[in-house]
Amino acid sequence: MNNFDQIKTKATLDKIPSMTQDGLFYCEHLILSQEITSILEIGTGYGIWSISMAQLNKDIHITSLELLEKRAKIAQSNIQSMSLQDQITLENVDALSYTPSKHYDFIFIDGPKSQNKALFLKYLPFLNPNGYILVDNIDFHGETKTERSDQSRDLKQMVRKINDFKTWILNESDLNVIDLEIGDGLLLISRKY
Ligand SMILES: C[S@@+](CC[C@H](N)C(=O)[O-])C[C@H]1O[C@@H](n2cnc3c(N)ncnc32)[C@H](O)[C@@H]1O
Repeated sequence: MNNFDQIKTKATLDKIPSMTQDGLFYCEHLILSQEITSILEIGTGYGIWSISMAQLNKDIHITSLELLEKRAKIAQSNIQSMSLQDQITLENVDALSYTPSKHYDFIFIDGPKSQNKALFLKYLPFLNPNGYILVDNIDFHGETKTERSDQSRDLKQMVRKINDFKTWILNESDLNVIDLEIGDGLLLISRKY
C-alpha cells in the first residue's frame, strides 16, 4: 500500500469524511482545464482533497483551513509524508473568523454544512474575477431530498440550512450557479459579467 492509500485507509477508519471519487475526478478536470493554480479549501479533514489536487501540477498552491487541532496535525503530517508541504499551507483556524491575505482562483467550501451561506458571503470577496466556488455535500448523503420522521432534530436543522442555502443561491441573479449531480451533490458558482 502506498502512502496515499494508507492516508485514505486511516481517514476511513477514523470516520473522517472526504469527497467522493467522482467528485474528485470532477475537481481534477475543472482545475486542469481552467488552469487553476491558487486554491483555498475550507475544511481540511485529513488533507485528502488538497493532496489529490496538489498532485495534479507543481504550480498549484493550496491554503487549507481546519478548525480541529488534532485533525490539522494529522493532515500536516500526511502532507509532509507526500512531500507536498511547499504546495499546501495548512492553517489551524476557524474559517468563520479567518481573514485571507490574498485572492484565489478556486474556493472549495467543505466545512460546517450549516454555515454554507455565511462562508460563501465571507469568502466571495476573496475570489478572483473569473474564479469558481464549489460547495460539497449539497445532498448530504440523500438526507436533503426527503424529510423522514427518524431524522434527529439536529439533522433536520442542518438539512434545512443546506436546502435554504441552495434555494437562496439559485435565486441570486448576479451569480452563475450549476447544480451538479455528482458525488454527494456539488454546487459550482461563478460571477456573472
Ligand atoms: C468534510 S471534512 C473535510 C474533508 C476534506 N475537504 C476532504 O475532502 O478531504 C470537513 C472538515 O471541516 C472542519 N471544520 C468544521 N468547522 C470548521 C470551521 N469553522 N473552520 C474550519 N474547519 C472546520 C471539520 O473539522 C472537518 O475536518
